Amino acid sequence: MIRPFRKYVLKCPRCGYEVEPSPFVMRCPRCGELLDAVIDSGKVRLKWGELKGRGVWRYRDLLPELSRVITMGEGSTPLIKLRKYPNVYVKFEGANPTGSFKDRGMTVGVSLAATLSVKGVIVASTGNTAASAAAYSARAGLECVVVLPKGSVARSKLAQAVLHGARIVTVPGTFDNALEYVLDLVLGNNAVNGINYYPLNSINPWRLEGQKTTAFEIVEEVGVPDFVFVPVGNGGNIYAIWKGFRELLELGVIDKVPKMVGVQAEGAAPMVKYWRGLGEARVDNPRTVASAIRIGRPVNWFRAYRAVKYTDGLFLEVSDEEILRAQGMLGREGIGTEPAGAASLAGYLKALSEGFVDLDDKVVLIATGHALKDPDVLLQGNPQFVEISSLDELMQLISK
Ligand code: F0G
Repeated sequence: MIRPFRKYVLKCPRCGYEVEPSPFVMRCPRCGELLDAVIDSGKVRLKWGELKGRGVWRYRDLLPELSRVITMGEGSTPLIKLRKYPNVYVKFEGANPTGSFKDRGMTVGVSLAATLSVKGVIVASTGNTAASAAAYSARAGLECVVVLPKGSVARSKLAQAVLHGARIVTVPGTFDNALEYVLDLVLGNNAVNGINYYPLNSINPWRLEGQKTTAFEIVEEVGVPDFVFVPVGNGGNIYAIWKGFRELLELGVIDKVPKMVGVQAEGAAPMVKYWRGLGEARVDNPRTVASAIRIGRPVNWFRAYRAVKYTDGLFLEVSDEEILRAQGMLGREGIGTEPAGAASLAGYLKALSEGFVDLDDKVVLIATGHALKDPDVLLQGNPQFVEISSLDELMQLISK
């Protein structure tokens, strides 16, 4: 068997300590920071112009080499140019098998879990990670335990976890409490050896390897944009996408990296608070209509911070009203994304009005999840229906 992490070393971004790659070590044994899975570009055979296949595994040369691959065709999502802003493209991650970008990570994470002697996988989640972990575990024939904040997961996400047979555990409080349970349980002593359930939250660097492929697809389709806007909750995805661009830079495929912009909801904006020098990346009692990013203590805060800092990007916050307006605008362009996914457009509009971006800049907005994930939000405004009871009335209506 090929060693899955042959091309990698796990490196601490804070103290520089290097660790032999392993599925089970995620934090630096010396300082506790989350480790980066660093690819040795000298060991990569990738020929950018000659990639084969589609989706996440099209980039297998830059991914762990796993003996069994659990895939449902994730990735290769549409990049849709907006009518209203012709230099703006929406990367529609709702088109993934379970309706969010999480599938890119789970195909790698669950494939890895399937090669370990574990019973199943475990995740804390605001909903999408749970849906994705449940589906991919089902495909792999593994069990799945999802730990959710009670009463604050969007209905369809919960329904997906039920459909795919996950064991659902709810805890009082927010996602931050749910994640604390999982971290304490499995990462208590910096190693999850001996635990029967493999943790696939975004602390797991191997899951994030799958998510970095978003950057590869963008580059293949439109080259390097000036800006990429990413909704930020736990901070794993913005880091993963940045990592993807950086690897292509190192391999000489591209010659610059886009500015990464992290967008948070006003009531749940710990990264914005930290970015502005207003204290640690933590808010108690996070609130927002975008339940996917209702997170007060982002576990990947340092990773997300680096992505934005090293690209001269920005963290900014948008109100729930701005998020819902952006969701509606995308809807009228034919793009259905959940509130968290629309935060990137809301952030773009804010950055535009504040002069941080220009109409001429080439921009990619990550629409992270499908609109159907959270139908309740869509129907909150009491949409008006026209009631009729005869064909005549219908004729009248459409002849106006
Ligand atoms: N958008 C959506 C639709 C999400 O589900 C999430 C995260 C994010 C954005 C933020 O990504 O955490 O990597 O910064 N959802 C996680 C979950 C927390 O449990 O489904 P991040």
